[in-house]
Amino acid sequence: MSDQLPDQHRKFYQMTLSERLDQLAAESGLPMDVLDALSGKTGLEPAQADHMIENAVGVYSLPIGIARNFIINDHPVLVPMAIEEPSVIAGASFMAQLAAKNGGFHASSTLPEMIGQIQILDVKDLNEAQSRLLEHKDELLAAAATLDPLLSRFGGGPRGIEVRRIYNSPIGPFLVLHLIYDVRDAMGANAINTALEKLAPQVSQISGGRVHLRILTNLADRRLARSSVTIRTADLAFEGYSGETVRDGIIEAWAFAQVDPYRAATHNKGIMNGVDAVILATGNDWRAVEAGAHAYAARSGRYTSLTTWAKDHDGNLTGVLEMPMAVGIVGGATRVHPGAQAALKLMKVESANQLAEIIVSVGLAQNLAALRALATEGIQRGHMGLHARQVAISAGAVENEIDRLADQLVREGVIRTDRAEQILKEWRKQSS
Ligand code: MEV
Repeated sequence: MSDQLPDQHRKFYQMTLSERLDQLAAESGLPMDVLDALSGKTGLEPAQADHMIENAVGVYSLPIGIARNFIINDHPVLVPMAIEEPSVIAGASFMAQLAAKNGGFHASSTLPEMIGQIQILDVKDLNEAQSRLLEHKDELLAAAATLDPLLSRFGGGPRGIEVRRIYNSPIGPFLVLHLIYDVRDAMGANAINTALEKLAPQVSQISGGRVHLRILTNLADRRLARSSVTIRTADLAFEGYSGETVRDGIIEAWAFAQVDPYRAATHNKGIMNGVDAVILATGNDWRAVEAGAHAYAARSGRYTSLTTWAKDHDGNLTGVLEMPMAVGIVGGATRVHPGAQAALKLMKVESANQLAEIIVSVGLAQNLAALRALATEGIQRGHMGLHARQVAISAGAVENEIDRLADQLVREGVIRTDRAEQILKEWRKQSS
């Protein structure tokens, strides 16, 4: 191990898997049996999976890593991310480091209010039925309030009723009732769908219409999370790029996504690389958040960027991400999955809002990482290092040979297994 740095100088990414876990235990104060659920030693058992879905045959694994350096609302957070794509965790950690030098991320969130929808068909007079439903608003809310005593005990419950008239649809006019429901620390789908189904007969009776669909909307635009970051221009400089060049390049890249849906889709995909990875690590429903994100990105009628980047009055780069964030820390897979439980403990998350604020900060960091790379050297260079490591491993490199071989492959610009095997053979011949 002569060319390895002494332990105390090695960075997290330079450690072995077991060293990283020891380091994580030391930093988080969590016992190893909790972290075992992240390391793959323990985790979701097939027998547990059998209770989660139908026709279960086993469990499916993905890599899980830790994004480092995150300071969110002045608190350091170790962020677990489950993802198969290289460079995502490195990108987030690196941008979090830049952000940390500049005060970190400032995040906030709205109340955890979800919206449930009831579609009311065969209504003779939309205006009149709408008025009747609104006149009975208190009665409907009172009925909904009795449905989930546990949620009420935690301070949640129904908060409001709105009625929308749809005049033009393929089946003619109809009404849509929105039930606004504070779901506290739950994702809330079950609570709200149950409430909608129970309220439906009353809604039908009051409106005189026929209740059809009763389901939450994933466009959870009353449950938003927001994160912002400001980075001094000088801190953006690297290699041959001045801070101004990087800052302006990022703003130009963002402007592309702002006006062009083709680019916005990819831009937002980069944000979701970070968002989904934390959602997955915590056992939350990433499809729900994906659906909400893209619907929110199109709320003006044109699909656009979820982030905004600009130059502030001091010339610093400043960015904001705001998006719906329907995640929970109680119930569902979050509760059953030991890895999800360990992930929440690692982040010391105590409320769904706190989790939402972390996730949106990771999404913002991820977007910054992608734009910085795209606006300067391109993204392939960053990918190459990891790709080279994978090639080195597949060529048979072990321990400290891996990084050394990967470096050599990148230097040569030839990242192929046959070349890696050749170098390895030469090294081993020399040393024997
Ligand atoms: C790749 O997974 C994500 C990026 O394409 C995001 C972007 O283009 O902004 C790099």
